[in-house]
Amino acid sequence: MEYIDLRSDTVTQPTPEMREAMAEADVGDDVYRDDPTVNRLEELAAEMLGKESALFVPSGTMGNLLALLVHCQRGDEVIVGNQSHIYLNEAGGMAALGGIQPCPVQNQHDGTLALDDILASIRTEDVHHPITHLICLENTQNICGGVPLTPAYTRQVGEVARRNQLALHIDGARIFNAAAAVDVPVKELVEPADSVMFCLSKGLVAPIGSMLVGSAPFIRRARHLRKMLGGGMRQVGVVAAAGIISLEKMTKRLGDDHLRARKLADGLRQIKGLVVDSDSPYTNMVYLNLSERVPLTAQQISQKMKERGVLVDAENGRRFRLVTHYWIEDAGVEKTVAAFNEVLN
Ligand SMILES: Cc1ncc(COP(=O)(O)O)c(C=O)c1O
Repeated sequence: MEYIDLRSDTVTQPTPEMREAMAEADVGDDVYRDDPTVNRLEELAAEMLGKESALFVPSGTMGNLLALLVHCQRGDEVIVGNQSHIYLNEAGGMAALGGIQPCPVQNQHDGTLALDDILASIRTEDVHHPITHLICLENTQNICGGVPLTPAYTRQVGEVARRNQLALHIDGARIFNAAAAVDVPVKELVEPADSVMFCLSKGLVAPIGSMLVGSAPFIRRARHLRKMLGGGMRQVGVVAAAGIISLEKMTKRLGDDHLRARKLADGLRQIKGLVVDSDSPYTNMVYLNLSERVPLTAQQISQKMKERGVLVDAENGRRFRLVTHYWIEDAGVEKTVAAFNEVLN
């Protein structure tokens, strides 16, 4: 059975054009900087994000970890959202591998960290305290609903960072979704950040890979640490070739995913038993709960949806996150709404 797979945008398979580019890619040993396809991808990423330099990494988690390791020393503290991927879902890498301590700040409903909370979390100079070195934002903020942070807010956090001699890193796993949603060039959205990680392997459809961008010295250090972590890859142009198509083409079509997410949310709002979050979706994620009258758990419903050819992820016993992407067309949206209706009514 061919499934409608709404579990995540990470399930996206490479397109036929990507597979062809991968097969034909010019390659070399990237640890020697000899891979022309990787070099092109890194130049393109740096240019599109408006930063000096870029590094191709195997995953978003490694990209974020490298940023933390470059910005911070052992014993330093990082201000992060308490609902952020870096804090919750990266296996405690900053603490385990960097000796870095997270200082979690509450994520507001709109995905932001309140400026007063950030200011209150910056450590004062005191022999007892760790040293705050970095603020991390996540854009789009996944758990808060795939909500985009605005350029104005990002500038305000950048100002706070500069005034307090801190660096600003953006976990922009879905930064191009954010740029499409707030309708500004991605360059403008990340201008206040010292470093940005973004993923090619999510809504941008590439099979593997993320990019870390920043100043030339920052990326030089990150390249060294990537080698230390075992992330120095060899003829990896075969993978980077797909990433070039992600940047040149897939960044331009994310609005389609957002429209389909809206269509999906509108359809699900008509179904008794489902309560779609009031402002959802902001981008490509639809978050919804089961109403109290539904006797089944979200996991049981997931199973029944699977039997009907639709894969959905239960966030917990009562909550779902559905994610639209390149391989979800209008017919898939309609099939999903019909399947939920059948399961629940
Ligand atoms: C917001 C966010 N940051 C970082 C990552 C990590 O990316 P990866 O799965 O490539 O390690 C993810 C992955 O889902 C994510 O959603």
